[in-house]
Amino acid sequence: MSAVFGRAPEPLMAVSASRCWITDALGIRYLDASGGAVVTGIGHGRKEVIEALTAQLEQLDYVHASAFTSGITEEYCRSVAEVVPVTDARIYPVSGGSEATETVLKMARAYQAALGRPERSVVVGLEASYHGNTLGALDLSGRPQLRAPYESWLGRFRHVPLDIGRLEEDLNRGDVAAFVAEPISGASRAAEIPPDDYWPAVAELCRRHQVLLVVDEVMTGFGRTGRWFGIEHWNVSPDLMICGKGASSGYWPLGLAIASGRIYEAIGENFVHGFTYSHHPAGAAVGKAVLDIIESEGLVEAAARQGALLRSRLEESLGDRVIDVRGKGLLIGIELDADPRAVVSAARAQGLLVYPAAIPAILLGPPLVITDAEIDQLVDRLSAALDQT
Ligand SMILES: Cc1ncc(COP(=O)(O)O)c(C=O)c1O
Repeated sequence: MSAVFGRAPEPLMAVSASRCWITDALGIRYLDASGGAVVTGIGHGRKEVIEALTAQLEQLDYVHASAFTSGITEEYCRSVAEVVPVTDARIYPVSGGSEATETVLKMARAYQAALGRPERSVVVGLEASYHGNTLGALDLSGRPQLRAPYESWLGRFRHVPLDIGRLEEDLNRGDVAAFVAEPISGASRAAEIPPDDYWPAVAELCRRHQVLLVVDEVMTGFGRTGRWFGIEHWNVSPDLMICGKGASSGYWPLGLAIASGRIYEAIGENFVHGFTYSHHPAGAAVGKAVLDIIESEGLVEAAARQGALLRSRLEESLGDRVIDVRGKGLLIGIELDADPRAVVSAARAQGLLVYPAAIPAILLGPPLVITDAEIDQLVDRLSAALDQT
């Protein structure tokens, strides 16, 4: 019997991983077409990251952020500030996407209070959305199945459909601190892309109503959609940003809460918050090594190029066995007339790992280093899996 309080009834026993492949204890190699839960961007087993992490731990393992900063934390945050579409960005590194969401929620609340608007305490999210499983992040998430067991602990925040008119009605109530959404839906709506005028209209509406615009880039950030950040497809600059997953590509538990300089100026000195493992030097070393690989190997461009290839191969090969193939870059959703969990297990039997969405759909998010030959293998294996379901 396992002593692990696990998440899956019959998990595979992972033994090793390299680039786009994971090998289990039986020696079966799986093509990691979802990068776990759309986490792995630079590919598995990258020596540069392992060496950077080891060197950092040898030099300086841990210091508490209430007393110390470190050279690597300063250097990493400077590098992130250069690539994010946030003006004069200030980076607060934490241990994952949910912690980053919690941190940003507090930043929004603290900012409105600092500007003498304490009545602005509600945060608005989308009806179909996911921002994490800690209680504040779960309250922001519009996912009924995840909320149901804890509903009596939730209810501070509101949810609106993906509709500008409905958002405006909500903002008119005058109690909203911030609006939060993913630029392109991840697991909730399987890479559904909003209409072209949606994000510019949201930005204008938030500005007019003194509501902070928060973009959750946990899944879409760090090159995944063929731009550094998903919101850049619409040339919008958010006030706050939430990152995770691709920031460390899974090599270290890392999330980033990112505030504009204007927000930092208003709350930075007095922000009441903190985690034991925030601003961790090892996380910064991993994040920096990952960022360097994304830049030096042109992985943002690779995501755009390989994403277009993968989408067209899927469309050719899957045809009318699926309802829709959509997405940007290497974040691709496939809407199905089938239970996504059945497709996930049929794919696994073909040596292919895909991720189920909250709707009848699967999500693909392979490492950005996926090759043309691996794209062919992915499509052939998925096609065979669909034949079985
Ligand atoms: C868009 C989005 N936000 C937040 C989170 C939460 O991140 P984490 O699981 O690292 O806490 C996720 C995780 O899937 C996500 O997809």
